[in-house]
Amino acid sequence: MNFFDVYPRWQIEPVRAQGCKIYDKNGVEYLDFYGGHAVISIGHSHPYYVDALTSQLKRIGFYSNAVLNSLQNEYAEKLGALSGYPDYSLFMVNSGAEANENALKLASFHNSRKKVIAFRNTFHGRTAAAVQTTDNEKYKAPINENMDVVFFPLNDIEPVRKTLLRGDVSSVIIEGIQGVGGIRVPEPSFLQELSRCCEETGTVLILDEIQSGYGRSGRFFAHQYAAIRPDIITIAKGMGNGFPVSGMLVAPKFQAVHGQLGTTFGGNHLACAAAIAVADVIKAENLVENAAKVGAFLMKELKKLQPVKEVRGHGLMIGVEFAEPIKSMRDKLLFEEKVFTGATGTHVFRLLPPLSVTMAEAEEFLKRFRKIKD
Ligand SMILES: Cc1ncc(COP(=O)(O)O)c(C=O)c1O
Repeated sequence: MNFFDVYPRWQIEPVRAQGCKIYDKNGVEYLDFYGGHAVISIGHSHPYYVDALTSQLKRIGFYSNAVLNSLQNEYAEKLGALSGYPDYSLFMVNSGAEANENALKLASFHNSRKKVIAFRNTFHGRTAAAVQTTDNEKYKAPINENMDVVFFPLNDIEPVRKTLLRGDVSSVIIEGIQGVGGIRVPEPSFLQELSRCCEETGTVLILDEIQSGYGRSGRFFAHQYAAIRPDIITIAKGMGNGFPVSGMLVAPKFQAVHGQLGTTFGGNHLACAAAIAVADVIKAENLVENAAKVGAFLMKELKKLQPVKEVRGHGLMIGVEFAEPIKSMRDKLLFEEKVFTGATGTHVFRLLPPLSVTMAEAEEFLKRFRKIKD
């Protein structure tokens, strides 16, 4: 059987990884400034994480949500303390799209409304409701056509306010920092006004922190730069450091109703062991602070480079925009300089290294990055 060919792929096969380094099957070492698409948070194959997962697997790897699993409570408690949301509740699922799907549904159960507001260039996933709030028609199949979603430009509050005042919007969904959309940071004043309008009109504010959360921005959540408290926050990617796990943090005002939400795999023993290990390492190694420090250094240095057009982002979620397409530079970086990077669109590098990246690795990255531009 062949693999269904929906991804373009580099002809490289990683077989081992450690910290911020990846090794292919020929033993070639790469610097990982892509983080497996913002997934690697505490670094590849962290020994504490490997021990936690292997010892959990030896005890019990999975049982259904029909029975108690105190690992879920242990994780919720740790996440509450780490994120600054100890009074919120946690619901766990398996992927980013699924987290947003549940968030949009919970909002609609809560206020019995249907309309959703999303933003231009945003990406929220590929499941039924999540893909409808994603601003890319290519991802939508004819069966996805029924939801009532309106898109507005980011950072322009007036049209959003006008629509919200009609009182029929169930939720507004917005990324903490737009990732796929080009590393676009919402202005704090825009988020604050949005939050106020949602509250006044009984609209649920959903912050998609799937890419920008979990310390990547240099705060636990990117929206914390604006000091707002959304109604629902969705998380995935860095949460499991590669183990497929996601979830949503739900404000106290939501009522939990048996049967409204459910999942077979969500919050299983292995997923919880992974998420607990990641939370422990983030705290013990001060990785949020490290992301802020190394990210600020990288951004400062990248801004000095010619002919970089713009450097955007926070922490270790950095967009480097060029006036010309970056494909050949990115290929050179990968195949000649042995550095993985992300990209968005045709002109923007997207740097998403593990949160554990060191200053020495950041210097090494800059050295190799300067070379490909010469
Ligand atoms: C902001 C954001 N939301 C949702 C998703 C979807 O996550 P997943 O691919 O795990 O379904 C992504 C994935 O890149 C994302 O960046």
